[in-house]
Amino acid sequence: MMVPTERALHEAIQVAPLDLPDDVKRQKIENLLAQMRLSGATARKIQKVFLSEMNKGIHQQDSSLQMENTYIPELPDGTEEGLFLALDLGGTNFRVLLLELVHGVIVREDVKKYHIDAHLRVGSGIPLFEYLAECVSDFVISEGLQDVELALGFTFSFPMIQHSLDVGILVTWTKSFNCPDVVGKDCVALLEEALERRGDTRVKVVAVLNDTTGTLLQGATQDPETAIGLILGTGSNACYLERADKVEHWEPERHGEREVIIDIEWGAFGDNGVLDFIKTDFDRQNDANSLLVSSFTFEKYISGKYLGEVVRCILVKLSKDGLLFTRETPESLLIPGNFLTDYISLIEQDTVDGGSTNAKEVLSKFNIIPDEDDLKIIQYVCEVASNRAALLVSICVATLLDHMKREEVTIAVDGSLYKHHPRLQSWMKQYISLLTPARKFKLMPTQDGSGKGAAIVAAIALRLKKRLESAK
Ligand code: BGC
Repeated sequence: MMVPTERALHEAIQVAPLDLPDDVKRQKIENLLAQMRLSGATARKIQKVFLSEMNKGIHQQDSSLQMENTYIPELPDGTEEGLFLALDLGGTNFRVLLLELVHGVIVREDVKKYHIDAHLRVGSGIPLFEYLAECVSDFVISEGLQDVELALGFTFSFPMIQHSLDVGILVTWTKSFNCPDVVGKDCVALLEEALERRGDTRVKVVAVLNDTTGTLLQGATQDPETAIGLILGTGSNACYLERADKVEHWEPERHGEREVIIDIEWGAFGDNGVLDFIKTDFDRQNDANSLLVSSFTFEKYISGKYLGEVVRCILVKLSKDGLLFTRETPESLLIPGNFLTDYISLIEQDTVDGGSTNAKEVLSKFNIIPDEDDLKIIQYVCEVASNRAALLVSICVATLLDHMKREEVTIAVDGSLYKHHPRLQSWMKQYISLLTPARKFKLMPTQDGSGKGAAIVAAIALRLKKRLESAK
């Protein structure tokens, strides 16, 4: 017999049944989507696998979780001061920021966005880094700071092996980047070399970080209990504060650090096959249609870059099986990548409001005029796919909370999917509570950790350096 808490968990993660007048049709659709629906027992199994992968990663054993040391051993303490540059690279926009900190508070923030064309995101990395340096110098010169020595924090939101706070070796590209010649190279050195070749500014990279790390640090300026940074956007990942004595990969000399931020890189969870038991036909298609096949398994289940594609694969299958749309499958729906994750958020908003305006508008982009059944089915598919994503993220967060064993944890969260989806936040709150009832936690929306956090890290890096010098 199922214990009451397990039953509550199992029941809470079930989505509302599909409500169609034709029972046979309904049954067929539900059967097809059954592979996307996880039971309470499966949720528990994923929890165990995630914990085991985390432990292996931290102990430097084979694992799909990198558990990378960021070498950031402390949180902002209100003494951060100065003018810093920050770079934010991760999506299709690249941002350069100038931030001034006084007593740990940002008092000035100038930002410029630069678009990164598709031809720079794939192919050789040399033009990409030349372009990044060009943007930095354009920004610095426009601020009139070309003769000022500026410390820079570089948010590079891709998996890195860190040899120190200012060395980040790219493990693999993710999301919409694929410049193979950069893999295995230090992104800081590449940027500094490109800046040196230009020679028109005096910028020094003092720290490289991940967007989750920036989010944790930015969150910590708002709430001292912040100990997890979480991104649920185009990509997904989390980092957390770990006890320093548990961390085996530590290259520079230790200086009595008590804690350190660990970048989990959970997007790669399952790349070694440990999550194959939840992989559906739709996930396999989604993977096959992606830029980097067979990598970042978990990210492909949950993040904004891929969720729309999972839904598109399901809709195409339903349409081809004669269960959706009376006409032939529209050509434009057959094109991978054409169903954006933002459409899911819009359709989910309809479900919340009890209407179908957004769904009709989305479908009109594909020249589809839906009937009543179509609308219900599409809403159901969007709900099933997003609910699975919410559950999977919640499983990892709950496992992390159990592993951290803190009295109370605030989770700083950012990312477009988290912000735009109308139900993710409440599902996550409910699922995390059910998965780990004894833990106290708070999900705290956090703005622009990848920009502001980079300046905070740069300030912390300088503080650590000064402290070391004065101890000599
Ligand atoms: C990257 C992570 C990043 C996440 C969110 C993933 O694809 O591997 O480093 O934190 O996206 O941007």
